[in-house]
Amino acid sequence: MLNHIAHKIQQIRGDLLEKKQHRSIFIANPKLAEVYAIFKNSPEGEWIIGKNDAAKLYGLLQTYAPQNILELGGGIGASAAIMAIAAPGGKITSIEQFEKCIDIAKKLTPPDILKNINFSYSEAHAFKNDLISPYQFFSGYKTLPIQDSPFDFVIIDGPGYWLENNQLVKLPNGDIINLLPRLAAGCKIYIDGRKQAVGIYKRFLRPYLSLIKENKQYALFERTSTRLLDIGEIKIEDAELAMRRATTPYFD
Ligand SMILES: C[S@@+](CC[C@H](N)C(=O)[O-])C[C@H]1O[C@@H](n2cnc3c(N)ncnc32)[C@H](O)[C@@H]1O
Repeated sequence: MLNHIAHKIQQIRGDLLEKKQHRSIFIANPKLAEVYAIFKNSPEGEWIIGKNDAAKLYGLLQTYAPQNILELGGGIGASAAIMAIAAPGGKITSIEQFEKCIDIAKKLTPPDILKNINFSYSEAHAFKNDLISPYQFFSGYKTLPIQDSPFDFVIIDGPGYWLENNQLVKLPNGDIINLLPRLAAGCKIYIDGRKQAVGIYKRFLRPYLSLIKENKQYALFERTSTRLLDIGEIKIEDAELAMRRATTPYFD
């Protein structure tokens, strides 16, 4: 119990320190602050990545210096612009399900940044992967740009919810399952919120994704070197989990 409390306190201290570092990232990088403000002050600005997460993302890209980035959920382009500033030599492919958002992104993104971003459209859809669970539906993008793989950084911030037969479809993102064979060993996967999805990845994708960090705001995974040429090869190694997967719904 005492260990648990000490661990929590340490975690809170770490998060506070991180927030302080994030504030200084904006102060030290006027270009980042200026571009963030363009998106934040636009009429659609309330949907963009939060300032703290933007600084976190910027710091991560500076640390890992990825060259081939995939963004799921480009929205109006704020996070893609931040990544393009942080990784100037990198190529960014950003998928979005609303063409209106892509149009806005292309208008708001400064031209010197836009040249490194490929905004592309894909419809969102719901799908299942029986290897993970015959009961669990996931959300994802119908057309993943696998021709541009292998990726060395993936950010998951979409798809947004959508309406189907007048019903709101609100599911955990499962694209990373299909993308596993297309990620370079060492690829970092940054997930904004999405606790339910993070729980599934931790539980079922352990051989392929190792957790680097998780807090209330985000989770960061790293693709292991366990090879996978096709998603049909996914192995759920924990026998007990496999049995439960086959016999009971994962989510009661
Ligand atoms: C959290 S947003 C993504 C934000 C994006 N990564 C950014 O920082 O600009 C998740 C999804 O919400 C949807 N969305 C974003 N902005 C929207 C808007 N202004 N109106 C409707 N949907 C929006 C898009 O489908 C987007 O992919």
